[in-house]
Amino acid sequence: LNFDVRRERRYILELLFNGLRRLEYRGYDSAGISIDSSFSLDCDAVPPSLVFRQEGNIESLVKSVYQDVSLTGLNLEEIFSIHAGIAHTRWATHGEPAPRNSHPQTSGPGNEFLVVHNGVITNYMVLKETLVRQGFTFESETDTEVIPKLAKFIFDNTKEEGDRSVTFSQIVLEVMRHLEGAYALIFKSGHYPNELIACKRGSPLLLGVKELSEESSIGASFKDTQFLSSNGQPKELFLSSDPSALVEHTKKVLVIEDGEVVHLKDGRASIFKFDRAKGEHAGALARPDSVQRALSVLEMEVEQINKGKYEHYMQKEIHEQPESLTTTMRGRLIRGGSCKSMSVLLGGIKDHLKTIRRSRRIVFIGCGTSYNAALAARPILEELSGIPVSVEIASDLLDRQGPIYREDTAIFVSQSGETADTLQALEYALENGALCVGITNTVGSAIARHTHCGVHINAGCEIGVASTKAYTSQIVVMAMLALAIGDNTLSSQARREAIIDGLFDLPSKVKEVLKLDQEMKNLAQLLIAEQSLLVFGRGYNYATALEGALKVKEVALMHSEGILAGEMKHGPLALVDETLPIVVVATQDACFSKQQSVIQQLHARKGRLIVMCTKGDAASACVGGSCRVIEVPQVEDCLQPVINIVPLQLLAYHLTVLRGYNVDQPRNLAKSVTTQ
Ligand code: G6P
Repeated sequence: LNFDVRRERRYILELLFNGLRRLEYRGYDSAGISIDSSFSLDCDAVPPSLVFRQEGNIESLVKSVYQDVSLTGLNLEEIFSIHAGIAHTRWATHGEPAPRNSHPQTSGPGNEFLVVHNGVITNYMVLKETLVRQGFTFESETDTEVIPKLAKFIFDNTKEEGDRSVTFSQIVLEVMRHLEGAYALIFKSGHYPNELIACKRGSPLLLGVKELSEESSIGASFKDTQFLSSNGQPKELFLSSDPSALVEHTKKVLVIEDGEVVHLKDGRASIFKFDRAKGEHAGALARPDSVQRALSVLEMEVEQINKGKYEHYMQKEIHEQPESLTTTMRGRLIRGGSCKSMSVLLGGIKDHLKTIRRSRRIVFIGCGTSYNAALAARPILEELSGIPVSVEIASDLLDRQGPIYREDTAIFVSQSGETADTLQALEYALENGALCVGITNTVGSAIARHTHCGVHINAGCEIGVASTKAYTSQIVVMAMLALAIGDNTLSSQARREAIIDGLFDLPSKVKEVLKLDQEMKNLAQLLIAEQSLLVFGRGYNYATALEGALKVKEVALMHSEGILAGEMKHGPLALVDETLPIVVVATQDACFSKQQSVIQQLHARKGRLIVMCTKGDAASACVGGSCRVIEVPQVEDCLQPVINIVPLQLLAYHLTVLRGYNVDQPRNLAKSVTTQ
């Protein structure tokens, strides 16, 4: 952030800490911050930057900063007219969580250049070797450390060559020329007080602008000249990889594009474009072109990122599913009229429907929960479109370099819209000429921007690392997509209308299934000390088995596996005994009788069964022995996964709380995996 408003040091610290708290869900194993001790605006001396880094969560950092001797010697009430501070919360990729591996990473003694980084520098080993040969000593195992050291190397060399006019942005542009991989970076340097430089390639970055002057309001082109307030009124500028750190300050943002460099100086911002090809030829310290950009408005409310009456984000997000599903469908389902009385309108893809219908294959691509959601939607897509549908885990598709053709429609499913593997698979599909469709929860995300068309799931901000409401909204969006693609087929009209009816009723049915909360807490109590839990499903609910097991393993830290019931006899049956708890999803659909025989066979092996069945169906579902039953309301078969996952989400939630683990920040995981 950058001020030309007069603020005291304590305010600056607290503002950065709060920003980190908002971003903590993206990474929480260590954190760091850098502010200035004081400024000397008129001399060559490098004003000292204070750096604090701490292992653990943000609160450990806050505590250590206020206890730090270098800070206690400082006056927290000292007023700055302009201040450039940076902060970072980390999800370790290179090097264990430890202060030396936390960001900001520095150029060495004196902290002349400081960098916070989101992403991975793939060629850091080569750069490190070169810098070591130049006399640099590295103290961390991170890939990031090469960046501030490279900046210092370039700075020192240009000075030696006698160029004293080299600007901060020129140095950063030169650094960028040498970096490979994905990054969003913010640089701070004592050589350039009151300035910050940010740049990005691959990883997300937003500039937030508070208190804009009239002429640079929304929709206007963004030029650095326009940015100067005519009356010199104060403004605050924020850079963040995520809107949740900005929304309490401003909703006016600029989505920074790949290759762009943002220069904050003296309370003003300007943007340049780094043309890689041009950069290669321009040699050192190229002068970049300045860029005109339009501001956009965040559609996020501060309340959305608070827990409200709930204890945890995951709990809140599970319970708000009736509302999130309603928002997902708002304005998209049309009921009424005469002959063709029901339909679906998905504005983001309507112009591409013909191409999608003509495609040779539909390929869903995603990771984690988003992959599971695609799996849940595949049967209805196949049924209503008549097109072969495959579902790919993004990393696996990339590992295999699986064939993607021009005649394919590739659909990228991602809550964050930023997952590195999914993004890279998108690049791959674009190169291969497929029509690329995005299904994301994040407006302005990389996947939303780089696909040809798409649908936003509009589930509202999801903070809990374990995805819950985004999963159900993704399934609903994909069901609506199936309806839209199959909209021209008369033979399936009755089926489509039944599904649309089902969609209208879905939020109230989810409300009903949420009443199982206490029952799931009791079940969690029973399972609290178990080592393992299996979840069996098939057909529409194979995805439920995978997703239910994923929830249990990722938050409750209990081994859990989702098993395709049709494969039971080919291995998993060997695990069955009277101790291992097994959830069998056996709600009413075309697979019900097959699930009955699975239950019988499990009973024959004395399996310890928990059967999820349709309300009133306990006796016929639980054939061949006694079992604990979870009864859920029945909906249209293709929408049943939306209902069936809810008790398993509740189970995972309660298991985690009862086992004493952190629900919202599970060990070793991050919400948005922006590194490969
Ligand atoms: C991470 C998250 C998961 C999520 C997955 C894919 O692993 O912890 O909850 O399902 O990434 O994320 P995306 O944003 O692409 O849906």
